[in-house]
Amino acid sequence: MSALRELNEEIALCQQCEIARYRTKVVPGEGAEDADILFIGEAPGWHEDQQGRPFVGQAGQYLDKLLASINLKREQVYIANVIKCRPQGNRDPLPVEIHNCRKWLERQIELIHPKMIVTLGRYSMDMFFPGKSIGKIHGTAQKKDNVIYYAMYHPAAALHQQSLRQAIEADMLRIPALLAQAESVAEAKQQPRQLGMFEV
Ligand code: URA
Repeated sequence: MSALRELNEEIALCQQCEIARYRTKVVPGEGAEDADILFIGEAPGWHEDQQGRPFVGQAGQYLDKLLASINLKREQVYIANVIKCRPQGNRDPLPVEIHNCRKWLERQIELIHPKMIVTLGRYSMDMFFPGKSIGKIHGTAQKKDNVIYYAMYHPAAALHQQSLRQAIEADMLRIPALLAQAESVAEAKQQPRQLGMFEV
């Protein structure tokens, strides 16, 4: 069994938060274990809790469409969440839940070793762009330790608001160029100006 599968089995046993008592299934995440891109949402909703899979409800179907717009299938990326259990009634995650669950996400990132981490919504944005506002930084990339961090609106929010919908769709379309650019920079370290596309 792969180290990531073992980790996800360990996550399934976690009882650290009160909400673990109410879950149907834990939702560790799924996708390609060697994915270039890791998408991080907020928390499982009702459908995810039933199935033990991330983004399988309405927001998930929209995420699948967004991925298709850049010729990707969900099996080619990795999809995880800030917290792995569904908060009752789909309330916002509590700070203590985010804190307790953070170690799992950190270990997933270590094992997947993605080239790009895409945050979906403000809870995952807060982990990598603390203190920033999503309205300002969505669609901009930062590179740190050879990983590109890229903030996007949450698909569930964008689904119902036309202006956010246009933004999330445009932001998704920028991903392939950012990845390709990062790869060419890695190959041609002599040309640091190519980094100009990243806002630091
Ligand atoms: N919203 C999320 O943030 N994550 C899911 O898995 C589903 C909906």
